[in-house]
Amino acid sequence: MSSTMDKQNFGDETIDIRHSDNYAQEYIEGFVEKWDDLIDWDRRATSESDFFINVLKEHGAKRVLDVATGTGFHSVRLLEAGFEVVSADGSAHMLAKAFENGLKRGHILRTIQADWRWLNRDVHALYDAVICLGNSFTHLFSERDRRKALAEFYATLRHDGILILDQRNYDAIMDHGYSSDHEYYYCGDDVKVAPEHVDDGLARFRYQFPDKSVYHLNMFPLRKEYTRRLMREVGFQTIDTYGDFQETYREHEPDFFIHVAKKTYSDEEIDESKETSK
Ligand SMILES: C[S@@+](CC[C@H](N)C(=O)[O-])C[C@H]1O[C@@H](n2cnc3c(N)ncnc32)[C@H](O)[C@@H]1O
Repeated sequence: MSSTMDKQNFGDETIDIRHSDNYAQEYIEGFVEKWDDLIDWDRRATSESDFFINVLKEHGAKRVLDVATGTGFHSVRLLEAGFEVVSADGSAHMLAKAFENGLKRGHILRTIQADWRWLNRDVHALYDAVICLGNSFTHLFSERDRRKALAEFYATLRHDGILILDQRNYDAIMDHGYSSDHEYYYCGDDVKVAPEHVDDGLARFRYQFPDKSVYHLNMFPLRKEYTRRLMREVGFQTIDTYGDFQETYREHEPDFFIHVAKKTYSDEEIDESKETSK
């Protein structure tokens, strides 16, 4: 591995890097190799239990497109639960690692390298569900990119398909400060994760691993209601938002929100108060 591939490059003004293309250089080989220490597959599987599997089954989903495959955690879990899964990601390093992880568990992942903003250039089939998990959507920095990506997800869904998209609880971080014991998502024991800088347009997180290596991610701090509004505006008809996999929660408590957005057209006027977002 060359040294340039092993080093992230945010330049001198690290907090000025606020654009959607940066993920490609953030997920360098060294960081990708460590990603599984951060997420700890066994603990993550226990903590989320069958939440995603149950939601997908409730909606009769069979064909699933994982658009943020990363190292393959959800692609592999869903394959093992009997779903037909295609694994997409914009990062070749991530997809290579996911493929290797799948192979170790006896699966040949069907992978597609695709950026969400022009997903339908590379993805031509229709799916019952699109999943975008692990706080991935936060990598998009402009509203135009967020709308375009959501429209691409919408277009690759069948008429009654669902999008499951999650995000950190940035409202809590911005309004109350960061506190997380990483119980649910990024469960790795010896990895120190904390925001280094937060403002309205940037959440810069620092990840320190037991071997003292340090990596960063610059992300856009999505507010929950903003994400829900964008989903509705691109055409999703109902959006249920869970907090750490629960239907009811206090706004600042969950680490993560999980949005389940449905495409099915409803003749009835949507009563937003009946959606799950307690
Ligand atoms: C935080 S990781 C999450 C990975 C995985 N879902 C998990 O939960 O462990 C975010 C993933 O989104 C991908 N990604 C970010 N922006 C993207 C884009 N515009 N198009 C496609 N993939 C993107 C990255 O390459 C990375 O694999």
